[in-house]
Amino acid sequence: MSPTAASNGGMASAPEESTSGPSGNSALARALAALLPSGAVVVSATEDVAGALRPGEGDSLARAVPSRVAEFTTGRSCAHHALELMGVPTATIGRGGRGEPLWPGGVVGSITHCEGLRAAAVARAGDVASLGIDAEPHLPLPEGVVDLTLTPPERRRLAELHRTVPDVAWGRVVFSLKEAVYKLWYPLRHEWLGFEEVDTVVNPDGTFAVALPRPLGVGDQRVMTVHGRWAVTGGFVLTAAALDCAKQPRL
Ligand SMILES: CC(C)(COP(=O)(O)OP(=O)(O)OC[C@H]1O[C@@H](n2cnc3c(N)ncnc32)[C@H](O)[C@@H]1OP(=O)(O)O)[C@@H](O)C(=O)NCCC(=O)NCCS
Repeated sequence: MSPTAASNGGMASAPEESTSGPSGNSALARALAALLPSGAVVVSATEDVAGALRPGEGDSLARAVPSRVAEFTTGRSCAHHALELMGVPTATIGRGGRGEPLWPGGVVGSITHCEGLRAAAVARAGDVASLGIDAEPHLPLPEGVVDLTLTPPERRRLAELHRTVPDVAWGRVVFSLKEAVYKLWYPLRHEWLGFEEVDTVVNPDGTFAVALPRPLGVGDQRVMTVHGRWAVTGGFVLTAAALDCAKQPRL
């Protein structure tokens, strides 16, 4: 099965859904694209593809188990397709020392994979300074992971959300959006960001805001809060954060 694509803003139109492919596939790409600024292109796959790596991309896989080879290969394949849809000649997408994808010049992007879904999102660096996406199964976050990844104020806010909107796995949403924010953060600062270092406010309307401990530079602006969107679609929690170059408030 081929990856399917969607964009938010008309840079590439979503193809008709293949009748032979899983029905949720292009719907998931569109759902992720809807969480990102206009112009971002998302490609997703719900089944793995083989043999899609460019020269040098598989260097980190020498000792990898088959499932890791499959998710890495399909994630890269989604990224290649997304770049092609954006009109960027596709080159090797390398891997930095902390696992970050190394995008071609002028491009920002992010990759995610979980059981049953792989996806990549890309955008022009002139439009978006950095972006991060994450996908997780829409299942309760194990209690031990809650304790490790959510701060006491975040847990208090989630208790209230659980009371008012009980059908969302709120802990999973916050865990996922933090991973999306890390994927946005790392390419700009090249440093670790711990789960306990940020303060997250997530809203039932599908938005979230994450207060950072240190600023991110976007042009001549210093960004201390990252905004993003989340959705629950097809059994997945989808989260995306982006620094839209045109919309960063001056501090
Ligand atoms: C790196 C990390 C975020 C990946 O998230 P995950 O849910 O485990 O896995 P996903 O499948 O969603 O994402 C994996 C992809 O993330 C990307 N990624 C890995 N490290 C990255 C980094 N440092 N910067 C940007 N993207 C990175 C890669 O593309 C990777 O896929 P690939 O190896 O096939 O290319 C996670 O493993 C991690 O280390 N988290 C701790 C840091 C953190 O999240 N802090 C929260 C601060 S608010």
